[in-house]
Amino acid sequence: MQTSASSVAPDGGVRSGLTTTESAFIEQAQRNGDLYIDQPYDLYSEANHRAWQSLFARMRGPWERYGNPSFLRGIDSLALDPNRVPRLSDVNQFLSPLTGFSAKAVSGYVPAYLFFDCLRNREFPTTITIRREDRLDYLPEPDIFHDIAGHVPMHTDRAFADTLVHFGECARRAAEIGQGIADPGERLATLTSILRAMARFFWFTIEFGLMESPNGLRAYGSGLLSSYGELSHSIDSPTVQRSPMQLEWVIHQSFEIDRYQPLLFSVASFDHLFELVNELERWMLDGKLNNVAPGEPEVSPLDLQSFLDANG
Ligand SMILES: [Fe+2]
Repeated sequence: MQTSASSVAPDGGVRSGLTTTESAFIEQAQRNGDLYIDQPYDLYSEANHRAWQSLFARMRGPWERYGNPSFLRGIDSLALDPNRVPRLSDVNQFLSPLTGFSAKAVSGYVPAYLFFDCLRNREFPTTITIRREDRLDYLPEPDIFHDIAGHVPMHTDRAFADTLVHFGECARRAAEIGQGIADPGERLATLTSILRAMARFFWFTIEFGLMESPNGLRAYGSGLLSSYGELSHSIDSPTVQRSPMQLEWVIHQSFEIDRYQPLLFSVASFDHLFELVNELERWMLDGKLNNVAPGEPEVSPLDLQSFLDANG
């Protein structure tokens, strides 16, 4: 069993590469407690690059057909190489001048408060591993294709980028609300409910959002834009229920992550989305997120703790 990230396979390539759940480099970083890391670009194997190439090639058509215009502009602006896994430093050279955002390499799951706080600072925690080339379709965890090809093109749009920053500010507001509650049980219950509401909002917008356009609905959510099967399904399938975004519905609506989404919400514009985050913040301050409907997603102890540990 190989344990070194630089172990060389008989074919001369790096055996583990930077493949999802199979990367010795990532395992070591996690053992070291290193959340924010460099992208060790030379570790990508040829299989990793082929996976990127296949994913990118097959999405081009669906992106043109179903992608929000801001996303399509973003893909062009970033000048992503269709054949090679991107270097984050190259991506940031194109991205940062547009909105101040940058992609920041991480070794794995980022606890919720830290994730949102990165957004507030215009940094996007970015997975650097990539799915196996023989398993392009289903992946329960994010990878660099989801993060760079699905999320980051949206970060070139100023109104969308400002919305993400505002969402990060909401997370800070939530932490302050928690700190203002003396009773530990009440503090946990309140934060759990607020985090569940925020996660639902994030899911139905940033991950799976649709937007109205003169040609019908178009996707801006990264979960859709990085899924070959679900992107067309989200817009064309008669089995999907699509509704204009309603905050009161979304914060109480549970979801499951391991299936095509049967229910999606649309916004009119990114200014509309920004205004919805404003409303979310107002509701949070008014206590209207303190008792949202139970159910998915679960709020993990790690995420809760990250909010309890937050300091202004
Ligand atoms: Fe995502």
